[in-house]
Amino acid sequence: MSPSTDAPAGWVNPLRDPRDRRLPRIAGSAGLVIFGVTGDLSKKKLIPAVYDLANRGLLPPGFALVGFGRRRWTHAEFAAFARESAREGCRTPFRDDVWERLAEGLRFVTGSFDDDAGFDALAAQLTALETERGTGGNYAFYLSIPPDDFPTVCRHLERTGCARATDLSWRRVVIEKPFGHDLASARELNEVVAAVFPEDSVFRIDHYLGKETVQNILALRFANQLFEPVWNGNHVDHVQITMAEDIGLGGRAGYYDGIGAARDVIQNHLIQLMALVAMEEPTDFSASALRAEKIKVLESTSLALPIAETTARGQYAGGWQGSEQVVGLKEEEGYDPASTTETFAALTLEVHNRRWAGVPFYLRTGKRLGRRVTEIAVVFRRAPHLPFDATMTEELGKNALVIRVQPDEGVTLRFGSKVPGTAMEVRDVNMDFAYGEAFTESSPEAYERLILDVLLGEPSLFPVSREVELSWELLDPVLEQWAVSGPPEQYQSGTWGPRGADEMLARSGRTWRRP
Ligand SMILES: NC(=O)c1ccc[n+]([C@@H]2O[C@H](COP(=O)([O-])OP(=O)(O)OC[C@H]3O[C@@H](n4cnc5c(N)ncnc54)[C@H](OP(=O)(O)O)[C@@H]3O)[C@@H](O)[C@H]2O)c1
Repeated sequence: MSPSTDAPAGWVNPLRDPRDRRLPRIAGSAGLVIFGVTGDLSKKKLIPAVYDLANRGLLPPGFALVGFGRRRWTHAEFAAFARESAREGCRTPFRDDVWERLAEGLRFVTGSFDDDAGFDALAAQLTALETERGTGGNYAFYLSIPPDDFPTVCRHLERTGCARATDLSWRRVVIEKPFGHDLASARELNEVVAAVFPEDSVFRIDHYLGKETVQNILALRFANQLFEPVWNGNHVDHVQITMAEDIGLGGRAGYYDGIGAARDVIQNHLIQLMALVAMEEPTDFSASALRAEKIKVLESTSLALPIAETTARGQYAGGWQGSEQVVGLKEEEGYDPASTTETFAALTLEVHNRRWAGVPFYLRTGKRLGRRVTEIAVVFRRAPHLPFDATMTEELGKNALVIRVQPDEGVTLRFGSKVPGTAMEVRDVNMDFAYGEAFTESSPEAYERLILDVLLGEPSLFPVSREVELSWELLDPVLEQWAVSGPPEQYQSGTWGPRGADEMLARSGRTWRRP
């Protein structure tokens, strides 16, 4: 079918224009090196994502996946491990023919991070793959490793020349969270990484940004006329951003100690979500325009004070999670009873610009809460006048637009509606958009999207160093205060967090949503 005469000016037939963003983009010749390939993240997410990309036909024919680790594995033994990981974690059907093709490019290099020989062997392997697989010398190095080892691995990559791109090839580094422990360590890490890789080759993973629903915030706001006119303090009362988990720490209590909920979730995921909700419209959808707007809004953001009243923290105690009786953090294996690490954190941010003056942004996250949910609720002011008797609107809450990030991805609009019957009574109802119902395509896993973007050199969904530092600037004063204010309050598992969190909102006459 040729374009109809009523096609908009500038319409380009997508079949002929390779820049069309609706077309799936296929990575060019490249290889991916995973450090920490035997770890939890790699097994559950990274290797399955690579398989899913292969299955969707989005990897180049000569793609190479190189695992680096301490085991004395042959290439075949690594391939067997990777196959099992892919089979267990893949989201598309597992097909032997797809796997066999991918497996031809699998290699394993034995090495430890404190061992020069391992990295020398890696450099030789990468050179060999240029001819064996035609990678073109293009490699991404995924650091799925303990954060303390980021600098060592970067230095090895520099020493062996692995980090060096040429005029015809690229080298990129992918860094997992946490990116630093506080502002000072994040700056230090940025400097170490910047000494080895130019900023445009550094891809900091915040896997939340790879989620469809998160990208949909931009579509919802900037592709519609309906929402943007009310997206400001004239109409919005406050915003609540929640990431709740129903699980506890299990055997990972030792690992979590000293990190806590604020560093683990608020510093990265929730502040990024907040930036997407609060930022101004970018001039276009290029990475530089998006990042400029996120940085601008984060620079206008500050912590509401005093910290003792605008933040809350807690540690889960035992209780009931659904029908299961669960233990508290203090009883978890590997937990240091003297630790004051929080498993629930909430704070209040303010954005000092014309759009958001006076609108608090409440961010909260916690483990062992009522249910697993991530959502952004934009809660609107009450109508300035209600021409009803008070009794008619007793059950009426505030209008809200809720972006459900996970699970049940979608958007809910809550507004008042008349209860059927001869009397007049107004109550809240929900209007729902659910991804699963509206589209037949399933969303790719966040890691799938992000790994593909790394290979394509598409940086829009990766925070830059400035964003990371700005979010630590917001968090540091809270962490400093918490460090000297004794142990966190205990909250019962299966509830919505400590009493302090409710008090935090009650001070301004508000309440948390119970998603
Ligand atoms: N797991 C998740 O869901 C998740 C989510 C978000 C971010 N992250 C981040 O992703 C990174 C990896 O997390 P993870 O959960 O996969 O950790 P993990 O299970 O502890 O795995 C760590 C990996 O690093 C390797 N390693 C450690 N020290 C090494 C050394 N000296 N030389 C060579 N290899 C070494 C381990 O190899 P061995 O097998 O030989 O010990 C293992 O493969 C961390 O930065 C974490 O914060 C993880």
